[in-house]
Amino acid sequence: MTGPVRAFTLRGADAVAALDWLHVHADLQGVLEGDDVITVWLDGVLPALPFAALRVAEIAVRAEDALITGLEHDVAIEVAADLWVRPPWVERPAACRGIELVVPRGGAFGSGEHASTRAALRCLHAIWDAPASFADVGTGSGILALYAHVRGCGRIEACDIDPASVQAARELLPTARVHLGGAATLAGVDGMVANMTGSELTAAMPEMLARWSGRRALVLSGMRAGEVDAVAALVGRPVVHREVVEPFTAIAYAGDGAR
Ligand SMILES: C[S@@+](CC[C@H](N)C(=O)[O-])C[C@H]1O[C@@H](n2cnc3c(N)ncnc32)[C@H](O)[C@@H]1O
Repeated sequence: MTGPVRAFTLRGADAVAALDWLHVHADLQGVLEGDDVITVWLDGVLPALPFAALRVAEIAVRAEDALITGLEHDVAIEVAADLWVRPPWVERPAACRGIELVVPRGGAFGSGEHASTRAALRCLHAIWDAPASFADVGTGSGILALYAHVRGCGRIEACDIDPASVQAARELLPTARVHLGGAATLAGVDGMVANMTGSELTAAMPEMLARWSGRRALVLSGMRAGEVDAVAALVGRPVVHREVVEPFTAIAYAGDGAR
């Protein structure tokens, strides 16, 4: 600490650029981004900001601001009657029964709040057929791979093109093999899930199908309604289950059963 914490509001067309600049040039203690105002808390003096379209004002620092963590409104999420997701700092609700996935809400996508994640989980949960090996393509936080782990799958592969996601998934699931890159980085597996946009699923499908043995179920999530038919047709098997959560659809294909 170089001085008492002070707070400033940034307004104007250069406010976002000024925030980026402050991340590099100041010791920011907190940032609150609103629609037309950014509030920053920093140690000591605000450096001279080299931006023209910017209005800066100092505001009082309230003692209670120092206690804000951003986690106060987190809750446990009921994905299905017997499938719940919560971050570690939220207590297990009394109503929670069945499977509980404990996933921290960090920088990687996949804390259970997003509808495409819930659709993927509901689909996996509905058709789970105990694969001996399982891959999560576009793993984000690792939440879908965690589902497979909790269900007892002994060999789990995951991949993501985002390094921060790979790190998060490795921390969540130390026993999984988490690769940086697309589905081509995976070893072959019996069961597979991918929660990505329709265009990402389409682009990744040849590599995904090359790694999926077809013996156990495949789940695809993240498609908007207009994307489902085109993506579904790429697999060459009938869709056996479908979950729709808000604008996102997840679909499942059964395995052919052969081990
Ligand atoms: C919608 S998030 C899903 C995260 C998590 N699996 C979930 O269900 O919440 C999609 C993730 O896929 C990753 N991704 C996008 N294209 C990819 C690709 N071709 N191969 C691997 N990962 C990809 C993104 O970086 C992102 O982390």
